[in-house]
Amino acid sequence: MTTYEVLSGDYRLEAAVTETDIPGLSLAPAGVDLAGAEIELIDAERRHFRLADALAEFAESEKGAEITYVLIDCPPSLSLLTINALAAAQAVMIPLQCEFFALEGLSQIMRTIDTVRTRINTDLELQGVVLTMHDRRNNLTNQVEDDVRAHLKDKVYRTVIPRNVRISEAPSHGKPALLYDLKCPGSQAYIQLASEVIQRERKRPKAA
Ligand SMILES: Nc1ncnc2c1ncn2[C@@H]1O[C@H](COP(=O)(O)OP(=O)(O)OP(=O)(O)O)[C@@H](O)[C@H]1O
Ligand SMILES: [Mg+2]
Repeated sequence: MTTYEVLSGDYRLEAAVTETDIPGLSLAPAGVDLAGAEIELIDAERRHFRLADALAEFAESEKGAEITYVLIDCPPSLSLLTINALAAAQAVMIPLQCEFFALEGLSQIMRTIDTVRTRINTDLELQGVVLTMHDRRNNLTNQVEDDVRAHLKDKVYRTVIPRNVRISEAPSHGKPALLYDLKCPGSQAYIQLASEVIQRERKRPKAA
């Protein structure tokens, strides 16, 4: 099962969650059908809260009781799927490519978060922006970084993810970057980012 069947209401999230080769990491896969969910849910009851409801139910299950963090990967556009994620989330992490147009996308997504906060999920918080595809030798990268840090201050993680060919190779081996090459700069940056994220999470008041 995929998250499509879950959002459609045909199956519980528990049916889509599978273990992975990495101890402690489970996942609920997406599928191409998800693109259609958008249209199918247009008149559905609680259409913005399908994922939030599924997660709340999951938290009560045996599998769910073992979970500490849930990471929801979103499409880049503002869609019903994104809204479902933002309605279910306690905090948002925005990956930002260090390119000029990425900045425009960033202000758009900040407006979206504000809208969701006023209408759907009052507790939603921006946890942070992570700069990715970072290249120190490139002037534009440094300019984008300076701009974003000047505007968002400590909302930008200290860790940046460098542009690293080992990361782009990993999927062709069917592996996450950390299992493909733990020592490469990209993997090391992701480990550092994880510890920064966990530190921030610990400071955040726990939801009821
Ligand atoms: N730090 C990096 N260095 C080099 N290549 C990278 C890096 N991060 C991601 N890539 C490559 O860029 C491509 C897109 O990455 P990814 O799928 O993470 O982006 P995305 O924004 O989630 O895309 P989508 O919108 O399709 O979900 C992949 O081929 C990936 O291997
Ligand atoms: Mg993606």
